[in-house]
Amino acid sequence: MEQYNRTYKVLHWGMAFVVLAAIALVEFKDLLPEKAMRHEAVALHIQAGLCVFFLVWVRLAWRSIHAVPPILPPLSRMQKAAAHVVHGGLYMMMALLPFLGILALQSKGRAVSLMGMQLPVLLDEQKGLPYSLSLRSYHELLGNFLMAVIALHVLSAFVHHLLRQDNTLKRMLP
Ligand code: HEM
Ligand code: HEM
Repeated sequence: MEQYNRTYKVLHWGMAFVVLAAIALVEFKDLLPEKAMRHEAVALHIQAGLCVFFLVWVRLAWRSIHAVPPILPPLSRMQKAAAHVVHGGLYMMMALLPFLGILALQSKGRAVSLMGMQLPVLLDEQKGLPYSLSLRSYHELLGNFLMAVIALHVLSAFVHHLLRQDNTLKRMLP
């Protein structure tokens, strides 16, 4: 059976883990007993999110030069279109969400660094402050939407595997 190649699988599962970790770090941070720990959780959230932002371009470049293995038995046109929309949406959110996060912080005058390297300032405090709250709200809204789409994505992987009994999930397994 034709599978996704190894790089593809490493990128998919590695990034799935980092995205879920980024979400868990902000969603559960209030369970942490000390303010310093909550602060650390948000700092880790930012580092995880920035990794996603850089890796998603590597992944899209990889996808553009390597064919996706076929699903057997083949999907109907409608099913293919639905999968395209969901996957396209996931890729878009993996780029847009961190970008909004970067703008939200920079608009408040906060420097954003990945592993100590400061990112270019796209929006300074002077111009950005009036948009700071909206940028953060859009980031949170899109974050909640991403969670719903991930749930749909995981559910459909299991529907393919258990009900339709095709090779969709097996192609992505190690
Ligand atoms: C995969 C990437 C990312 C995902 C999925 C994500 C998702 C989220 C979610 C779900 C929330 C919480 C919303 C709520 O409280 O309802 C949040 C909050 C936040 N995010 Fe992100 N985010 C990502 C990347 C980033 C990046 C790259 C930055 C900054 C450069 C960032 C900065 C923040 C900040 C400052 C908050 C508010 C935290 C607080 O409550 O103090 N995020 N994000
Ligand atoms: C943890 C549970 C997950 C499972 C079981 C899972 C399973 C799968 C499977 C079976 C495929 C192949 C689908 C196909 O070829 O039609 C796939 C593709 C994909 N997954 Fe996931 N996934 C998970 C989490 C995630 C997360 C958290 C993300 C990112 C937010 C993600 C993003 C994607 C994307 C963008 C594709 C499309 C790959 C392509 O370019 O063809 N997945 N996933």
